[in-house]
Amino acid sequence: WRTQRRPELLELFKTHVYGRDPGRPKDMTFFTLEQRHGVLNGLANRRQVEVRFAGRRDGPRMTILIYTPAKAKGPVPTFLGLNFRGNHTVTDDPAIRLPHSWVRGRAKGEVVNKRATEKGRGVAKSRWNVTNILKRGYGLATIYYGDIDPDFDDGWKNGVHALYPKPKPDEWGSIATWAWGLSRALDYFETDKDIDHKRVAVMGHSRLGKTSLWAGASDPRFALVISNNSGCGGAALSRRAFGETVKRINTSFPHWFNDNFLRYNDNENACPVDQHMLVALVAPRPVYIASAVGDRWADPHGEFLSGKYANSVYKLYGRIGLPAAKHPPVDTPSMGTIGYHVRSGSHDVKEYDWVQYLKFADKHLKKEK
Ligand code: GCU
Repeated sequence: WRTQRRPELLELFKTHVYGRDPGRPKDMTFFTLEQRHGVLNGLANRRQVEVRFAGRRDGPRMTILIYTPAKAKGPVPTFLGLNFRGNHTVTDDPAIRLPHSWVRGRAKGEVVNKRATEKGRGVAKSRWNVTNILKRGYGLATIYYGDIDPDFDDGWKNGVHALYPKPKPDEWGSIATWAWGLSRALDYFETDKDIDHKRVAVMGHSRLGKTSLWAGASDPRFALVISNNSGCGGAALSRRAFGETVKRINTSFPHWFNDNFLRYNDNENACPVDQHMLVALVAPRPVYIASAVGDRWADPHGEFLSGKYANSVYKLYGRIGLPAAKHPPVDTPSMGTIGYHVRSGSHDVKEYDWVQYLKFADKHLKKEK
């Protein structure tokens, strides 16, 4: 598994699904824009760091917002996740910078790209559980995904793609590009003494849950992986063709995967891989898959099965993967080295989800006292 089959599967996923990325840019630099102790009512220290992919402030760049517990005595385990609408949406904190890149907006009922405004501050806070994360001794780092690659099909001219040639059919689509950005954040964490870069949990919801899975599978430096309602191209098995299918996703979002993946429209059985193999690539590291019962589009049962079918690889490492023999009832988590739950309600990230993620992280990332 380790020396032959795993590398082979990783190559197959690169070639047929997500695409190869160019690795760490040699000129990349990190610049601390701002930092402050004792923010969020004394609970946290905040740092905002700009990653300049070409080493220039006028080139492609992303801003990482980092909170660590003010009480921490040393480097802390940290959750890292991309956000959909700007770092300033994850809490009400007035000092979080607005994103420099375009965000999705609406004008006359149509989706348009526009500048972020103050109106967005804190609007996604129900999805982030910032206070609890910090109280439990973890850091939280987040990046606006549009800083890395804006989420529309523009012929690969925007975001970090401006620095590279147009991708070939086996090269990075947007999901692989966002995942590459997460790896660049990890490059930065390796230089930040407040973050334990060996205990970083990568978390994402929906398209960003597909991204966190690919990031965790392709970059073994991530210690733990969380996929929230990731669905097609994430944790759900493509061969079930239930809810969103390969053809549907490639039609609505032609830029997410590489061009080779188009071959599997209405032709899932021809693809040499399926998504349980993606989960298995994370082994022996812990991975958590979460579904929502109302999120039929993401195929909760297919998400459960990919966890279940990854068990055989965890077993090779002497670990129990996902303990549940059958799809567990709603709101009944099952946690081995693979965790799974199906929450009541719809496609979202809720406090309930974070309660499980924190429990799972305590089980796997906390050091023995
Ligand atoms: C759409 C898409 C999903 C995706 C979701 C999201 O519903 O079909 O594949 O996960 O958007 O990212 O919000």
